[in-house]
Amino acid sequence: MTTAEAVPAGVLAIPAAYKDPEALHAALAAARRDDPVSYVDVEGYTPFWAVTKYADIIKVERAAKTFTNSPRPVLMTTEQDKLQQQVGIDTLIHMDGAKHRQYRAIGVNWFKPSALAALQTRVDTLAKRFVDKLAAAGGECDFVQTVGVDYPLYVIMSLLGIPEDDFAFMLKLTQELVGNDDPELQRGTTDEENMMAMLEMFAYFQKLTEDRRANPTDDLASAIANATVDGAPLDDIQTVSYYAIVATAGHDTTSSSITGGLQALIEHPDQLATLRDNPDLMPTAVEEMIRWVTPVKEFMRTAAEDTELCGKQIKAGDAVLLSYASANRDEDAFDDPFAFDIEREPNKHLAFGHGLHFCLGAPLARMEIGAFFKELLSRLDHIELAGEPQLTATTFVGGLKHLPIRYSLR
Ligand code: HEM
Repeated sequence: MTTAEAVPAGVLAIPAAYKDPEALHAALAAARRDDPVSYVDVEGYTPFWAVTKYADIIKVERAAKTFTNSPRPVLMTTEQDKLQQQVGIDTLIHMDGAKHRQYRAIGVNWFKPSALAALQTRVDTLAKRFVDKLAAAGGECDFVQTVGVDYPLYVIMSLLGIPEDDFAFMLKLTQELVGNDDPELQRGTTDEENMMAMLEMFAYFQKLTEDRRANPTDDLASAIANATVDGAPLDDIQTVSYYAIVATAGHDTTSSSITGGLQALIEHPDQLATLRDNPDLMPTAVEEMIRWVTPVKEFMRTAAEDTELCGKQIKAGDAVLLSYASANRDEDAFDDPFAFDIEREPNKHLAFGHGLHFCLGAPLARMEIGAFFKELLSRLDHIELAGEPQLTATTFVGGLKHLPIRYSLR
């Protein structure tokens, strides 16, 4: 065992390292150059192989039989890992093989662009409502608090069919679950207390299941509550896990893309002007914002058999971390990866992952990010930073927790 600083890829096990992108990316660039599949064995974490090159991550994700999602799909402290297994959480990201295919099929039609077209009007209305909120804030605010957290939550809750009165409660719980490495967002100081947030969310969703089974409607919550696998309904844990993965996966990710995307536009005024003058560039701009931010820092796999990767002998049972943050700045995969270019094409970033577990919500994320910036830029006269942006400490999902801005809107 060593300290996290002993090897460059050790930064991947330091939540606070993500608060300093320059230092983080310097370490990841060194890892890509000198030891692209490096062994990280630091206190508090199960030792893991850190995969930092784009091409190697694709290799791992394509070999789904050799590198499985179960039992540990993301990096956790050994303590969090133990608690997670005690609670028995079983979501899409924990599943492999036929089981994963069957459960993914329950949600897949809801996220196809054709199905999402029905949600476009609601998303456009929400985008307008949140730009109105910015206007009402009077020209200066913390963009994360005013728009960034609530807008994506309203979108995902609308898709699920959750009543607006419950949004604030869901917001608090999803933040506690996802941002639980950052003291400012934590409910308590211990893993047990953070786990309480998960149990509260489970209780809420259990009630939702009962309700949608008794009174089915045409929302995603009803589709999940009444789904069958091999002819049998999902049990309580499976149903609740499905809601939880959709609610959490669809929230902080999109929030971080919108807030980080706005910061990037403010810091690159030429790109902002180009996008404002050419709204048709929105699809490539949205893709670049997602690559730039890479809100999901990593996923993990576990080797199901002895294998070899980049000259390293990986043993059955070894944990393998896929650093999307590193892959999306890989010099061998992108021209000038540290340039923010809203017209970047091709832009085959790995922010949504790759292969069988490729993000289910990618079309929804693209749609809601695009809808927001279309509305904002059509009304924006001027925008600048009004203070220091602050990032969350996390090794999994995150981005800005504060983005002070000054602006004028029409
Ligand atoms: C999976 C990223 C938005 C639902 C994933 C994965 C990544 C990711 C990296 C794992 C892929 C892999 O293992 O190869 C993102 C990013 C988003 C975003 C960057 C926003 C910019 C959403 C939204 C939803 C969603 C809006 C739903 C409303 C899911 C689900 C999975 C997933 C259900 C699990 C899929 C599976 O295991 O089969 N996402 N996501 N995501 N995402 Fe997203």
